[in-house]
Amino acid sequence: MAVNNVQKYYEVVSKIVDRTGELIRNRIFAAKTIQTKASNIDFVTETDKEVECMIINGLKTEFPDHKFIGEETAAETNMPLVLTDEPTWIIDPVDGTLNFVHGNPHVCTSIGLYINKKPELGLIDVPIMKFRFTAMQGQGAKLNGKPIKVSGVKELSEALICLEGGNDPALQKRQSVIDNYSTFLPLVHGVRTYGSAAFSLAAVAMGATDMYMEYGPHIWDMAAGYVILQEAGGVLIDPAGGPIDLMSCRMLAASSPELAAEAASKFKQYYPKRDDA
Ligand code: IPD
Ligand code: CA
Ligand code: CA
Ligand code: CA
Repeated sequence: MAVNNVQKYYEVVSKIVDRTGELIRNRIFAAKTIQTKASNIDFVTETDKEVECMIINGLKTEFPDHKFIGEETAAETNMPLVLTDEPTWIIDPVDGTLNFVHGNPHVCTSIGLYINKKPELGLIDVPIMKFRFTAMQGQGAKLNGKPIKVSGVKELSEALICLEGGNDPALQKRQSVIDNYSTFLPLVHGVRTYGSAAFSLAAVAMGATDMYMEYGPHIWDMAAGYVILQEAGGVLIDPAGGPIDLMSCRMLAASSPELAAEAASKFKQYYPKRDDA
């Protein structure tokens, strides 16, 4: 893919996200219409849906041949998730909806562009904090236009890590989260839970945390963060140690392959059932 094409895609999507970021900033502390989805802690608001429409409609106008995988469209159509070789925008309009509902600022818009199933472009916008993480394949990762890098930490004993509970109340999963928290807390400097997969990936990419593991995230949670993390020098693998499968609902992000390997050897593993499987 020619660099100038990706640059054009970047410029178009950036302008759209300027508008969605403003909408999220205006809505986060206002009254919201809230519905539940797969569980009683899995929410969607009118803003999630509106932001996804703004992004898809804006991109479709410029790139009518491109494909789209969006969290809220997927939820409404219940179609199986298929990533083809066509240029495909993978969109999480509001990542951290539970935070958004509670007025907690860890809320992102996450957009990845994949071509031939390969990550080409990632953008994670954190509108309340006015942080925008971006990356294009082979060109490094940036925060608000300035280059970022992972910390490079190689050992758990020197790491600040992130673990997430997600919004699936399945007891076996909850128990694995609790068990992993208990295992890791005594081994590391500290454990954080941001409530946004995209923010958690971006935090590893900028060196603010050293590792992040979660059972449950979907392709739209990982698509942009994968590009940004790789371009910042980090790794994204399966929590058991193999290569990442963006459809597997599992991920382990780390500042170095050494740290990823040490962590993977210690996790109590859980294999989520994909809800479209
Ligand atoms: C969720 C958030 C949360 C993570 C879940 C995601 P959503 O996304 O990223 O931090 O733990 O796995 O589903 O539903 O707020 O877009
Ligand atoms: Ca999400
Ligand atoms: Ca979302
Ligand atoms: Ca959601």
